[in-house]
Amino acid sequence: AASPVTITVTGGAGQIGYQLLFRIAAGDMLGAEQPVRLRILEVQQALPALEGVVMELHDAAFPLLASVDTTADAAVAFEGADHALLVGARPRGKGMERGDLLAANGAIFAAQGRAIQERASERIRITVTGNPANTNALIAAAAAPDVPRERFSALTRLDHNRALAQLAARTGTPVGDIRRMIVWGNHSATQVPDVTHALVGGEPAIDLVDREWVKGEFVPTVANRGAAIIEARGASSAASAASATVDHVRSWVQGTPADDWTSMSVVSRGEYGVPEGLVSSFPVTCSDGRWSIVDGLAVDADVRAQLDASVAELAAERDAVRELGYLG
Ligand code: NAI
Repeated sequence: AASPVTITVTGGAGQIGYQLLFRIAAGDMLGAEQPVRLRILEVQQALPALEGVVMELHDAAFPLLASVDTTADAAVAFEGADHALLVGARPRGKGMERGDLLAANGAIFAAQGRAIQERASERIRITVTGNPANTNALIAAAAAPDVPRERFSALTRLDHNRALAQLAARTGTPVGDIRRMIVWGNHSATQVPDVTHALVGGEPAIDLVDREWVKGEFVPTVANRGAAIIEARGASSAASAASATVDHVRSWVQGTPADDWTSMSVVSRGEYGVPEGLVSSFPVTCSDGRWSIVDGLAVDADVRAQLDASVAELAAERDAVRELGYLG
């Protein structure tokens, strides 16, 4: 049998963690042949609650689960890690300003970036789910200059999946028949879901839906889906966020299908006019454990305008955390 892969998950006592850990242990992320070692990082005061989650992980008797360890020490958590799933983050509290939120998360992701650089395996791949995900990934990458830039990513797969679901519902097609969806930009309300290259059952999506629907319904529904779920459920999207995190890593490691791509937030080298160094969402193909941005796509004028606005937001977040001293 394959030797176990070490997966460090932060925020394991939280809502997403409660879904994510079980999906990983079941083999949904790395496949049914790959044993996993779970290493869970939490804040000290959440460790007792996390013990309950660990009891349930044991009780699920997953054949692939080689071990589970918990800690409040990042140096222990990232020791030998092959994957870092950075889910734990500081939520925006009542009366908290945007700057306070960036500062609180800056401290968390800078410390974790340093621990990753010092402790993780050579194979380390980092996926940031905790918000503001793109900027948190930027901070972690800045704190780990010896880790190759392409190993850092942030989650926009949930937005991508939401876009697939909306287009599927509109066209009466199973999601599995839709290819080449794109989400560009920041994981925030400025994100840019783009159907202009999408194929529905092999046909161009833009021949099946009208521009009014795309602009007036599709884009706002996808971009504001998180708020709609909080409104309906009284709690934020956790199962779908965990599922998207699993999908993101699975695509990265196992590859994307030959006729399709996915959306990932990665460090820009200037592609599609996104300034170098920003962590922004792009269409990517993956193979052999590496992603590459799909190049040469024509960018629709509406998409361009929205992407410019989303990139401006990313640049403003970067400038704010730079001012706070988190980018070195
Ligand atoms: P939650 O509040 O239920 O859980 C977060 C957990 O992280 C808590 O148990 C907390 O103790 C822990 N934590 C906080 N600071 C930590 C640190 N320094 N080290 C380790 N653990 C720490 O939140 P939930 O619902 O699980 O969401 C987690 C994050 O994911 C949030 O930032 C949320 O905004 C984000 N999110 C991102 C999505 C995406 O698509 N990128 C989608 C949905 C949520």
